[in-house]
Amino acid sequence: PLPVILDGDPGLDDAIAWLLAFASPEELDILALTTVHGNVGLDRTTRNAGVTLALAGADVPVYAGADRPLLRDPVTAANVHGEMGLPAADLPEPSRGPEAEHAVHFIVRTVRERPSEITLVATGPLTNVALAFRLAPDLPGLLREVVWMGGSTGEGNRTPSAEFNALADPHAAQIVLTSGAQVRMFGLNVTMQAVATPERVERLRGLGNRAGRVSAELLTFYAGIYRERYGLSGGALHDPLAVAAVIRPELCRMKAMNVQVETHEGLNFGRTVCDLYGVTEKPANVEVAVEVDDRAFFELLLERVGRLG
Ligand code: BDR
Ligand code: CA
Repeated sequence: PLPVILDGDPGLDDAIAWLLAFASPEELDILALTTVHGNVGLDRTTRNAGVTLALAGADVPVYAGADRPLLRDPVTAANVHGEMGLPAADLPEPSRGPEAEHAVHFIVRTVRERPSEITLVATGPLTNVALAFRLAPDLPGLLREVVWMGGSTGEGNRTPSAEFNALADPHAAQIVLTSGAQVRMFGLNVTMQAVATPERVERLRGLGNRAGRVSAELLTFYAGIYRERYGLSGGALHDPLAVAAVIRPELCRMKAMNVQVETHEGLNFGRTVCDLYGVTEKPANVEVAVEVDDRAFFELLLERVGRLG
């Protein structure tokens, strides 16, 4: 199995993404969860990491990371994920608290111990990853890959131009995308097609296990805003799609292109400017997902969540 570090801001779709990861031991060897500010504050995302471990019946260390973006004012998404980040009734207590070591130090130490082996799956703002790259300039070349849910080839979700994870720390995203690391990006242009329709939510609930029930409850909470604001039939499974693509790369068609993040404050702050047609003739720095087999993705998610307790 591929050694991975899961970095995120749970966040209900981060939690479901991590359940999918823990249910896939043939493909993924999860070394740790690292948490970052984002959907809710760092204390909450770190607590929610412990809750997700308990839900998955898994036990790996949790490291808390950056509690704010590099430069910009903090933004959260409590309107989408609830004040606590995991809006479900039947949640276990966290089975782990955070280690003493900072997430960024953990990432640097672990990647250096295992050069070219580790995949960092980031499903939140890229603050921890950017800090690790600044602390250890050799790191981009030592990682096997960074897989990021964030950005978009087209429109945003938090502003007309920007996706939430990119907007929540545009400077960090620009550092990571232009670091020379191997980066695969799963943005809104594909994740908004991975929709938890009411029928799919019922199939998750019908699995009969706690992980399925909690996932269904979380996605039901989330569906309202996706229907009203985005005109979808349910919540988008953003973060689970990024994890699924590590397990099954063939779920998405990728295209290599130049991607830069707008770091100037203005209408396009946080926009991932994707040179889809190569008009700038700048070298490709990111493999961008441009098509998804959303049915195959959902069947994988369902089958895996069904394996949990
Ligand atoms: C991303 O933003 C967060 O709210 C979700 O967890 C996901 O990572 C989608 O824009
Ligand atoms: Ca997230």
